Amino acid sequence: MSKLWGGRFTKKTDQLVEEYTASILFDKELAEEDIQGSLAHVKMLGKCGILPAADVEKIQDGLHKVMQMIRRGEVEFSVSDEDIHMNIEKTLIEEIGPVGGKLHTGRSRNDQVATDMHLYLRKRVVEFVGMLVKVQETLIGQAKANLDTIVPGYTHLQRAQPILFAHHMMAYVSMFERDIERLRDSYKRINALPLGAGALAGTTFPIDRHFVAEQLGFERVYENSLDAVSDRDFIVEFLSNASLIMAHLSRLCEELVLWSSTEFQFVELDDAFCTGSSIMPQKKNPDVAELVRGKTGRVYGNLVGMLTVLKALPLAYNKDMQEDKEGMFDTVRTLQGALQLFAPMIATMKVNRDRMRQAVNQDFSNATDIADYLVGKGLPFRQAHEVIGKTVLYCIQNKKYLLDLTLQEFLQFSELFDDNIYDVLQPENVVNARNVYGGTATPQVSAAIGRAEETVRSN
Ligand code: ARG
Repeated sequence: MSKLWGGRFTKKTDQLVEEYTASILFDKELAEEDIQGSLAHVKMLGKCGILPAADVEKIQDGLHKVMQMIRRGEVEFSVSDEDIHMNIEKTLIEEIGPVGGKLHTGRSRNDQVATDMHLYLRKRVVEFVGMLVKVQETLIGQAKANLDTIVPGYTHLQRAQPILFAHHMMAYVSMFERDIERLRDSYKRINALPLGAGALAGTTFPIDRHFVAEQLGFERVYENSLDAVSDRDFIVEFLSNASLIMAHLSRLCEELVLWSSTEFQFVELDDAFCTGSSIMPQKKNPDVAELVRGKTGRVYGNLVGMLTVLKALPLAYNKDMQEDKEGMFDTVRTLQGALQLFAPMIATMKVNRDRMRQAVNQDFSNATDIADYLVGKGLPFRQAHEVIGKTVLYCIQNKKYLLDLTLQEFLQFSELFDDNIYDVLQPENVVNARNVYGGTATPQVSAAIGRAEETVRSN
């Protein structure tokens, strides 16, 4: 059979052009969505009296058959049929005869492809919310198991103040919660139907776009036919949301890589999530964490690529827009891989509490607390800061930590010190002193876990 659009042409398409312009090698991934959209479209054509019921039935049966054939791998897609839409239409016509050619009545590939993409991303967004919830659950699991694990908290990657490891885990739960919110918000815009826009201007047939929307579960139809076929904002939004998810994952990855180093030894990743070295027998490398961190780059690249394709594109459809697909599919796969691995990797991670505790005992992360202690005795904070700065310097010069100082030594720096300073400096007390909403004190973190569990359950 010749090209579906061959009528106007007198020459064969150049073979390189065929290959260059075809999208079938990647848009075959949209086969299910394409048929789903066609089924709703042809049903509407029947309902509106545009096609007789007998034709509608033949086309519907044919589409179901083609779907089965594609699922069984029986359809050989061909580059000369350019894309998934024409490959399916051609197969349909081969199966049921010329009546299959009535399917495309009142429709263009421009509104068709946009509809397919909406259907495709709508499913993916729901799946990603589910996967993020799983990651949140495992983080909450680690938080609950580590409600009394104290670890140095860092700023500038310098020891700052001790915190609960649970608090650190819950920070990521909050980040992923925002990601879920963003995906949900984008769903509103994904859940709109472009079909019925025709090539760009609408169609001369008395179609019912709202009926098609209802069939496909879309909440609304695009208002403007030009916008309907030109809009790829929803893909940009998805790529941007994916980029932030990867940014969040990559920050945790970086911490896992650091924490599992010999220098830190704060955590040990399960053997199942690490790999070895072909030369150094002692190595156990955190490859998954490194690779998720690395793959963040390609997801950002896909976002920038898509934005750049759209820049200055005149309305309405332009072939440039076919470039929306590979980056999107690649992002979906990259994100799926990362999220799938993350939940079990976090769940099986061993937390080395003793090592964390040892770190806290050997630093000055309780220094803020004695400054606050002096403030409690009436000293202005700036002066207290100066006094403690000198005290810390004295400790460093004498190879001591604050808790090693005698009361006599403390009194050299301020006569406001007394015996209870030793209590104030205990890491548990330092942590629990931060008893503000959102702070690291045990009751606050417990409450935060409770609230997060509630939110995650309702997600
Ligand atoms: N394969 C095309 C794409 O992905 C489908 C739309 C083609 N429309 C057209 N007028 N050539 O963008």
